[in-house]
Amino acid sequence: MRSPDSSSPKPAPGGAAVATALPGARAPAPVPTFEITLRVNRKSHTLAVEPRVTLLDLLRERLGLTGTKKGCNYGECGACTVHLDGRAVNACMVLAVQADGREVTTIEGLAEGDRLHPVQQAFVEHDALQCGFCTPGQIMSAVACIEEGHAGSEAEIREWMSGNLCRCSAYPQIVEAVKAAAAAMRKGARRKAG
Ligand code: FES
Ligand code: FES
Repeated sequence: MRSPDSSSPKPAPGGAAVATALPGARAPAPVPTFEITLRVNRKSHTLAVEPRVTLLDLLRERLGLTGTKKGCNYGECGACTVHLDGRAVNACMVLAVQADGREVTTIEGLAEGDRLHPVQQAFVEHDALQCGFCTPGQIMSAVACIEEGHAGSEAEIREWMSGNLCRCSAYPQIVEAVKAAAAAMRKGARRKAG
């Protein structure tokens, strides 16, 4: 399972007080917040967050990056896959404070301008989606699968991508897309090398 390293963000000055719900009830303790700074898609953000907030909710609700999907919110489906310091993680299983000082890449940060990442291109060309809900997570996992050298065979791709569920069962096309993207990326790397 993909999990992040721990980090030590600083407490933010003050914390949001939660409104008293019932007349006469004792006011709840203020919720502490922590100031974190992280880079998301090559852009730096400093935010105060409650310690319970997940990276997934921070991306979607605070930064408006809704390409990362919330499926199970339980580490089971892979719909929320992003890269944390270049490694694929389930963003619903990472606390935002654990991303302090780190580099996050989401599906929105993969293309370079109008040029799709080779994995995105391959998903389009191989029709590797139906409803598309799982697709951002599939693509982020596929990029890591290829970059970390786990796309050597169909069996290896299936094994590495097994944490990404597709309710539309587009698995055959997804595997074809990953194979094609891996070949394209190897070719691109050889061209760059010389
Ligand atoms: S939403 Fe994170 S694994 Fe399902
Ligand atoms: S394309 Fe619909 S869930 Fe995968």
